[in-house]
Amino acid sequence: MPQVKDLLIEELQDLLNAESQLVAALPKMAEAAHNLKLREAFEKHLVQTQTQVERLKQAFELLGETAEPKPCRAMMGLIEEGTEVIEEGAEKEELAADLALICAAQKVEHYEISGYGTAKALARQIGAIEVATLLSHTLGEEESADYLLTTIAKPLLQQAINGVQPLVRPWIGVYYVPVTKQVAAEQHLDVDYGVWVSSPSSGQPAVFADSPAAKAGIKEGDIIVEADGQRIDAQHDLSAAIIPHMPGDKITLRILNGNSTREVTVTLGTLPQP
Ligand SMILES: [Fe+2]
Ligand SMILES: [Fe+2]
Repeated sequence: MPQVKDLLIEELQDLLNAESQLVAALPKMAEAAHNLKLREAFEKHLVQTQTQVERLKQAFELLGETAEPKPCRAMMGLIEEGTEVIEEGAEKEELAADLALICAAQKVEHYEISGYGTAKALARQIGAIEVATLLSHTLGEEESADYLLTTIAKPLLQQAINGVQPLVRPWIGVYYVPVTKQVAAEQHLDVDYGVWVSSPSSGQPAVFADSPAAKAGIKEGDIIVEADGQRIDAQHDLSAAIIPHMPGDKITLRILNGNSTREVTVTLGTLPQP
């Protein structure tokens, strides 16, 4: 199996150089990050990366080889791109700059994940179990770092979207409870589907004053059973009927109350911002 061992050594040499490049690059990425969590993530990963260099040296030792790095051109390219992102970020808004930085950092993590995944498999193949265990530790750290970056990116992305385009959602203006068999039995309702317009807590009105629903004459106790001809039930909630619309659109609702049935047309409003 000398060929497999040679492949493993080459992969470890590549990773050793890649990690050393990262030890130099991560402080610059931390410094460029505006978001505190992102900065902390880079700082934490720098400490991990220093440990990862030590693990690689241990792996060489276990294999009876000299820890000699081989220039990793892929990491050079990724770091070069990261440097560009940092430079361009100086001209961008903070959110956009941070998101671009996360993107560059995740490319690095994915390169490492692939490198360590291969190295671990090769180590297993030649029965170098201790080496495989060391590489497994690092692989886990790289995967966690990648996951953490995704977690940090999500709210930033949402903020970026909200900032560009204020969230405009259609609104009808009622509190309601989906009617199930159980709700129907408990509340002595005439049907076991639709939504029941009811107050969420005592003292709070079920229908917002001056809301589209109030203007259309919808009252507490009404059961909305259809929206634009579609029956409202567990599969088709009222919100599912409203959300595809824009404020200003009209929807027709069929309403039950006791023995009477009526149809009302509601002109949707805009969901008030919290
Ligand atoms: Fe690493
Ligand atoms: Fe990493």
